[in-house]
Amino acid sequence: MNTYKIAVMGGDGTGPEVIREGVKVLKVLEQKAGFKCEYQDYDFGGDRYLRTGEVLPDSASEELKKFDAIYLGAIGHDKVKPGILEKGILLRLRFELDQYINLRPVKLYPGVWTPVKDKEPEHIDFVVVRENSAGIYTGGGGNIKVGTPNEIAIQEMVYTRFEVDRCLKYAFEYTRKRNKNKELTLVGKTNVLTYVFGLWERAFHEMGEKDYPDIKRDYNHVDACTMWFVKNPEWYDVIVTANMFGDIITDLGAMIQGGMGVAAGGNINPDEGGTSMFEPIGGSAPKYTGQNVINPIACISAGQMMLEHLGEAKAAKMLDQAVSDFLGSGELPGLSVSDIKKAGYSTSKIGDAIAQRVQDM
Ligand code: IPM
Ligand code: MN
Repeated sequence: MNTYKIAVMGGDGTGPEVIREGVKVLKVLEQKAGFKCEYQDYDFGGDRYLRTGEVLPDSASEELKKFDAIYLGAIGHDKVKPGILEKGILLRLRFELDQYINLRPVKLYPGVWTPVKDKEPEHIDFVVVRENSAGIYTGGGGNIKVGTPNEIAIQEMVYTRFEVDRCLKYAFEYTRKRNKNKELTLVGKTNVLTYVFGLWERAFHEMGEKDYPDIKRDYNHVDACTMWFVKNPEWYDVIVTANMFGDIITDLGAMIQGGMGVAAGGNINPDEGGTSMFEPIGGSAPKYTGQNVINPIACISAGQMMLEHLGEAKAAKMLDQAVSDFLGSGELPGLSVSDIKKAGYSTSKIGDAIAQRVQDM
């Protein structure tokens, strides 16, 4: 039987509540699909920082590299200045573990309300491959003449050919494996950011022409892409884009798939022996902390992505089916906190309901 070592980081706010439901469902799947996970908890997050003054121990990445995967709830604490934990934990782990891909499926499940009129599950089903290790997130910069009327702020978007190529390669391979429309769309801004997206565009076509003649190539400017997300989401199969643009368009993606309550993502290190980290893409929702009202489905789906990544395809499929059946059943009238409360559901009850569906398979 395959055994996996999983580092569990509940993190801040409602993170621990949703991760508890994710682990609950995984434990049922272990029995049903025949694999084993050994879970180890880590308390990285705002509470630990406020207690100890340390954001992340220097040994953390080396320790986490020994795990087969990391399962993360959320990072962001209402009593800690924005940026400290996000940069000091989430981004630091992404960079130090070289998780250079952020994989974000945009999938409308049956029974889920989308704000985009007349769109059904068959119209909203694509995947964004966001470069996750470089670009404007790690480029140089600084503030000069701070506090004067002539203050200068610099924030550079930097990409190397190596970083672009490895991201594109993953995206082409993923598109081939997904085997839907076999179409990869590069999202950039070649009409303004000519240096950086000039490189992306050249590399995209060179690689596509040489190694992936079976994959259709398309290109969108990022502003136009946000328009198509709303108007014609069915046009997309797989999108590949740089870090910042990927961050922005996947929040829009989350909305058209029904909201942050269902949007999951994986920070992937595709290299041999790399450790990847799976998380719901919504935040820590501090105001709902401890109330057992937040939707755990995004976190449960992040667990599903983790299983797929680990190679437990059967378990991943079962979990996807259970989530789809639960949402499709209409038991929840909607995914917001007020919908969940109105329906007499809670974070743990939703976890129970999905676990039960897996159990009954
Ligand atoms: C995300 C988040 C992070 C990002 C923040 C919290 C640093 O918005 O995962 O999309 O910008 O990548
Ligand atoms: Mn974001």
